Amino acid sequence: MKKLINASISPNLEGKDVLTALRLLFSPLSLKYGSYINSVESWFKYNFRSKFAFSFSSGREAEYALLRALKICKEDEVLVQAFTCVAVVNPILWLGAKPIFVDIDKQNLSMDIEDLKQKITDKTKVIILQHTFGIPAHMEEVKKICREKKIFLLEDCAHVIGGKYKSRKLGEWGDAAFFSFGRDKAISSVFGGIVVTNNRKVAERIKRIKDVSAYPSYFWICQQLMHPIVTFIVINGFNAHPVFGKIFLYAFKKIHLISLPIIPEEKISHIGNYRTRKFPNALAVLCFSQLMRLNRFNKNRQHIFTVYRHELTKLKNRLNFPEKSAYYLRIPIMVSKKEKLRAFCKENSIYLGDWYSHIIDPKNINLERIFYNKGSCKMAENVSRNILNLPCYPRMTDEDVKRVSLSIKLFYGKQ
Ligand SMILES: Cc1ncc(COP(=O)(O)O)c(C=O)c1O
Repeated sequence: MKKLINASISPNLEGKDVLTALRLLFSPLSLKYGSYINSVESWFKYNFRSKFAFSFSSGREAEYALLRALKICKEDEVLVQAFTCVAVVNPILWLGAKPIFVDIDKQNLSMDIEDLKQKITDKTKVIILQHTFGIPAHMEEVKKICREKKIFLLEDCAHVIGGKYKSRKLGEWGDAAFFSFGRDKAISSVFGGIVVTNNRKVAERIKRIKDVSAYPSYFWICQQLMHPIVTFIVINGFNAHPVFGKIFLYAFKKIHLISLPIIPEEKISHIGNYRTRKFPNALAVLCFSQLMRLNRFNKNRQHIFTVYRHELTKLKNRLNFPEKSAYYLRIPIMVSKKEKLRAFCKENSIYLGDWYSHIIDPKNINLERIFYNKGSCKMAENVSRNILNLPCYPRMTDEDVKRVSLSIKLFYGKQ
């Protein structure tokens, strides 16, 4: 059978993670408390030249804690790009503030500078600048605008850890930055996130928020620890036969051994108080272990991009294949017959990603409720209609990349 290529099922997973998760499940005293939380925070402080770092149980919670520390409330506006995930928008709504959506630049899938300038008002308190798929945003221009208008600049580094814009790391440009350790992010502890800043006043407030936050329950922590183990079984099931993989996946979801990345309540964007949770030690162990492999992960991602670029040269215009190298989490392509291309690749056990196929991902988000006016960000709407993501995860071999490329070439009859 053909080996499964899929960027959604634990893309960073290695044997070591499975063994670590198993060991942790049998170490109940290390589940909540332990020294690894501090190790992860210190790693970020050191690597992002940041005086303060505070971990939470997800990226969205790290973002929320920061916005709360800035005392964002009703009447305030927070600028966020369209072509994003509802998880980025919800923390703004939880505080009763209004998200204002900025259109994107097709080149880097981040905020369009002209549209950004037009959307700034006296009520704008924060700009959340997203490095989509790991592609650096227009850092210098946005930073200049923020400095002139005295707006707090928060970098959303959920898709990249270690990428650079000019000679400075993404995450070192803004007044603060947050990162995610979600299941399909640059590194993964299934859930987790961190916010870094050099602003002492803001940091003191985040610390107070973190100090009064509780740890997630033991059940929840164990559920996340099961994730690497069961997805390992699912991946191997798929490799034996897709039917086995599908059965395992269905069964594990049914008995809640696989948690949902976004729960149904989040899709309807409840407004009101939200509780942050501390980052538990067991997930910090998984996280720290992957941070130790980050350089290799990033080098692999860069290499995979180069192989794709070489293999898909003849199709680069048709696919809108990106020009610049980066630590891509997934490589965005824009095509007209995307569902047909996806189905064609799927027959070969290749699952092309569909992140941001909805203006605010995932599907079924109530746009009115989150204050998105249809037609207000035309480029973002257009790109989300045509977007597909090529898998670009560290485990991929050159043969895997060539297989994906061949499948695409066969679809377009370019072989
Ligand atoms: C761009 C972006 N920012 C932030 C987040 C939130 O991260 P987390 O899933 O860790 O809450 C996501 C989530 O998927 C995302 O895609």
